[in-house]
Amino acid sequence: TVKRWWQGKRVLVTAGPTQEPLDPVRYVSNHSSGKMGYALANVLRRVGAHVILVSGPTALEVPPGITCIPVVTAQDMYEQVLRHYPSVDVVIKAAAVADYQPLTRADQKIKKDADEMTITFKKTKDILKTLGEKKDGQILIGFAAETHDVDVYARSKLEKKNLDYIVANNVSSEGAGFGSDTNTVTIYDRWGGKVDVPLLPKEEVAYQILKVVADRHGSPRE
Ligand code: PMT
Repeated sequence: TVKRWWQGKRVLVTAGPTQEPLDPVRYVSNHSSGKMGYALANVLRRVGAHVILVSGPTALEVPPGITCIPVVTAQDMYEQVLRHYPSVDVVIKAAAVADYQPLTRADQKIKKDADEMTITFKKTKDILKTLGEKKDGQILIGFAAETHDVDVYARSKLEKKNLDYIVANNVSSEGAGFGSDTNTVTIYDRWGGKVDVPLLPKEEVAYQILKVVADRHGSPRE
């Protein structure tokens, strides 16, 4: 069962957006509310897992019994996730990490002099990809937020980042993805399997994800 497999497992969950500062008062971010990641943390706790939640800035309350490490930028998240990686059994990366950060951060507030302004960005480190390269027995579960060709992009991320599972949400479908209380996802695994989860509250979706993992790893196939 789900509980039997997850009980006592050490699980690192990431949630929420990252914020990439431009100057002391402004940042670039995205619409992640953290709900999907916090739902996972909650359900994991309920099935007896030890949860470390690395969370970007959200308005959510940290559920009791969960160790929360607050972070702001993609770089902060990278450092905290890498620090805890050797001591966990499973990583679930529901956070919406910025792919780019402003190349420079102004020390002082940027003034509105020019009519146009150009900001140069540089790529952030891909946390999941780094985890995939350093994998030492951990089960790696990524998320993919897509607006089209979900199947193709999800499978390609699964392979490129050396993941075991990827949970794909089509964020342009009604009631799914960023900010909503519900989600609908497709879970792909590295062995070619695929499970569709219908539109459900995020905690139910979280449970279905845990069930797919428990079914596969708890079965004699492993
Ligand atoms: O927080 P909510 O409002 O509840 O919304 C939930 C959600 C839509 C944010 C969530 O379900 C989701 O899809 N999270 C992943 C969003 C995302 O960044 O997808 P991506 O396809 O850009 O990234 C793929 C994976 O790589 C993700 O697991 C991401 O955490 C990871 N990544 C991305 C960039 C980066 N620099 N490092 C990473 O590890």
